Amino acid sequence: MTRVSRFLRMATRSGLGFTANHILSALAVRLRPSRLTSWPRFIQIEVTSRCNMACVQCSRSTLGAPSSQGHMSLALFEQILGQFKHYQYLTLHGLGEPLLNPHLEEMIRVASRRSRDVRIGFNTNGLLLKPERVAALARAGLHEIGVSLDAATEETFRKIRGPHDFQQVKEQIRAIVSLNGPRPDVGIAMVVMQPNVGELTSFVEMGADLGVQSVSLCDLSHRWRPTDGDDPMAVQDLETAWRETARAEARAAELELPFVYTKLDDVLWPGVFVPCFYLWDYPYVTWDGKLTPCCALPYAETFSFGDLKRTPFRELWNSREYRQMRADLRRGHIPKVCEGCHHAEDPALGHVCTCKRDPEAEKQEDP
Ligand SMILES: C[S@@+](CC[C@H](N)C(=O)[O-])C[C@H]1O[C@@H](n2cnc3c(N)ncnc32)[C@H](O)[C@@H]1O
Ligand code: SF4
Repeated sequence: MTRVSRFLRMATRSGLGFTANHILSALAVRLRPSRLTSWPRFIQIEVTSRCNMACVQCSRSTLGAPSSQGHMSLALFEQILGQFKHYQYLTLHGLGEPLLNPHLEEMIRVASRRSRDVRIGFNTNGLLLKPERVAALARAGLHEIGVSLDAATEETFRKIRGPHDFQQVKEQIRAIVSLNGPRPDVGIAMVVMQPNVGELTSFVEMGADLGVQSVSLCDLSHRWRPTDGDDPMAVQDLETAWRETARAEARAAELELPFVYTKLDDVLWPGVFVPCFYLWDYPYVTWDGKLTPCCALPYAETFSFGDLKRTPFRELWNSREYRQMRADLRRGHIPKVCEGCHHAEDPALGHVCTCKRDPEAEKQEDP
């Protein structure tokens, strides 16, 4: 089903309120008011902040794991979901591995019962991806899974994702794409980095061989901003990266495999700039119920708008802090917590964040 037909079905089933909210949200993302009458169309809920891998590029390794960690309880999940209306997409991963949460199936069932048409999905590292469990999640209402592999070879997988069994994860993917009965759409995902930049086309071919429904690539980011060239994981040669990406995209077209590339930066990808829409349409909830601005700011100990266990979402959504942050971003006064994020900067308006610069080093570089 295409996105348009899915939306039309949702609109027909869910009625006028849903359609009106869709229009208001789309307008809000464009006009960027500080106070919102619309509800977000996208929600990301971190069902756990625990993980069974230690990938080199993950914020858990580069910025550190959150100071308090745990699985979200089913009761809290229900309490939180009950505070939202008219959403269309529910993402159930955050700074951890969602399949570790023992209540995941029940959470998906709850979400699916609340609204049959909401698209529910998550990314996983695939270690716990057993066919029986995936079948149960699909029966509960799961629509899509992205398996993060980051590699087309065992050697590269181990360099990035650690000493885990690449072949086994691949076999598990093969098993779930050939499940009979309800099963989610399955995609494989790669964060493009120096160790895997030569494997993009093989990654697409591997996706076709595994029988997945999509292949997605995204730029390396630690705060939604591609990392600097001195990061050992960052792609060193941009020309090679562009060539490899074009080859991979062409191969995906030949294989008729949907191919998605999330490009982050105007420097890496000339002409690419996506202004922040998260503050208007895509909030993030941590495992213990804190509301944060987006998935690039999942550390509630650093910043949160409040605790959904105590204050309802609707109140926080238009709280003074949220409104102030939206107003600042719109004016180009980049909020402290957003410094370093590419979405906060608008090259067209000259709003360029300077937070990463080291004035002393710059002085020395100036002739
Ligand atoms: C944080 S993980 C959580 C879900 C699950 N543990 C996984 O690995 O898929 C969500 C997604 O972010 C990607 N990711 C991790 N570190 C990243 C980075 N530095 N830049 C961009 N994406 C990253 C992962 O590969 C994964 O697809
Ligand atoms: S990318 Fe996913 S699997 Fe890897 S350490 Fe981060 S949360 Fe865990």
